[in-house]
Amino acid sequence: MSAPTGPARSAGPVTGGWATGEDAVLVVDFGAQYAQLIARRVREARVYSEIVPSTISAAEVRARNPVGIVLSGGPASVHVEGAPRLDPAIYELGIPVLGICYGAQLIAHQLGGEVAQTGRGEYGRTDVTLVDGGGRLGQVLPPQQSVWMSHFDAIVSVPEGFSVTARTEDCPVAMLESPTRQLYGVQYHPEVVHTPHGQELLVRFLVEVCGCRQNWTMTNVIDHATENIRVQVGKGRAICGLSGGVDSAVAAALVHRAIGNQLTCVFVDTGLMRLGEADQVEDTFHRNFGIDLIHARAADRFFGRLAGVTDPEQKRKTIGELFIRVFEESSQGIDDARFLVQGTLYPDVIESGTATAAKIKSHHNVGGLPEDLDFELVEPLRSLFKDEVRRIGSELGLPDEIVWRQPFPGPGLAVRIIGEVTRERVAMLQLADAVVREEIHKAGLEREIWQAFAVLADIRSVGVMGDERTYGHPIIIRAVTSEDAMTADFARLPYDLLEKMASRIIGEVRGINRVAYDVTSKPPGTIEWE
Ligand code: XMP
Repeated sequence: MSAPTGPARSAGPVTGGWATGEDAVLVVDFGAQYAQLIARRVREARVYSEIVPSTISAAEVRARNPVGIVLSGGPASVHVEGAPRLDPAIYELGIPVLGICYGAQLIAHQLGGEVAQTGRGEYGRTDVTLVDGGGRLGQVLPPQQSVWMSHFDAIVSVPEGFSVTARTEDCPVAMLESPTRQLYGVQYHPEVVHTPHGQELLVRFLVEVCGCRQNWTMTNVIDHATENIRVQVGKGRAICGLSGGVDSAVAAALVHRAIGNQLTCVFVDTGLMRLGEADQVEDTFHRNFGIDLIHARAADRFFGRLAGVTDPEQKRKTIGELFIRVFEESSQGIDDARFLVQGTLYPDVIESGTATAAKIKSHHNVGGLPEDLDFELVEPLRSLFKDEVRRIGSELGLPDEIVWRQPFPGPGLAVRIIGEVTRERVAMLQLADAVVREEIHKAGLEREIWQAFAVLADIRSVGVMGDERTYGHPIIIRAVTSEDAMTADFARLPYDLLEKMASRIIGEVRGINRVAYDVTSKPPGTIEWE
């Protein structure tokens, strides 16, 4: 490994869309969190999509040559000064545009229709009725359907040349279109699950209106990524830090497919992984895939450094620093490595522009690598969403336990132990955590639950087991449902399941005499306990 002298350089997207010849759709982001969901739904229709800011100019759009444009919803009112607008020349490019919610209002507002504050906004489930058979876009939809609305302003008259193709009881224009100008608008949110026929509407727009070929398939993505990695790395050597998590695992498998033994993976074994996880990494990557793997067994060093450390931030810092040192030492033998493989995903790329996202990232990068390593980055997952990464992982033959692995913090079980992190306490937590995961798996709840794990608290309480008085520690079970970890709800686990977990944990883990279930959502809590 070369000396850390300059910033790691990203080579930009290597898998998606324009780089590889798939038809591509631009999703213009007008704020809130709708754009990512729309982009994912477009991908689900096997059409490549990319999110762009609302400040994009017509010339920039033309340069990208998309087959369609979707305008997202957003929190603003078109009447507010400074509310985001679309460069009006984009409407004249002849590229089909679909405006959703705020996007639809913007089309009406910018092209001469009227958007008014009717005082009767619509929120939640609403019935929509087609007008004149639904027009070009809506003709595949049922004459009446339930949709998800979330708007205060309403379009009350459409621009010249447009027709109204759907309405609701309170809103005279729920859909509008001008097929000759290739401009379409829908007031409701077709991208959310609460609009059962939403995906049909999006597919209709993409396939019939835009003429998209549905060629964004994971097999194509794998083929293109393989080719691109070969071109980028040439005969060079690459290093990949494996954490056992799905992103780095899929990135490593993909790069290995492309360049074989020019890749060396480094797995820093902190001793803070879950039960059996270190062996699983070794089995999967070294034994099954035949990947050149350096397994740095550094548990003793981590426990040495963590002795006496109880402050959560200090724990993270201690682990982060030692992790980097061990990674650097382990990769020292790989002299000529110039490339570093990273499992960066598309949401990281989108969010890296905003200040709050930057803060979240630095928190999550604990246990990751510093930015000042002198490597060129290979980021084969840069244009992909998590569900796509999972599909690629499965296609590449990675086991379900890795592909469907729940998010796990970089500093590992250390953030789930309140108080000092010792080898003995980690061993206790590993056993309890294995019970929680096993029971969730047996109950078939794994994919419904975002994360389920055990936490070890550093308090003790009196209990009674057999005829004996005990004075032991509690285990706290934490299980949450979530879309993106930004917010989370505690999972409504069945009592029988909780009882089974509790009795197994107390029976199988010495020193535990009580089990509690955390019923806090995020906010106000966080997912982890530290
Ligand atoms: P909190 O506890 O802040 O966690 O609600 C939100 C999500 O982030 C995960 N998490 C981490 N992930 N490195 C990571 O890669 C970290 O240091 C880290 N800390 C928390 C947590 O598991 C949850 O999914």
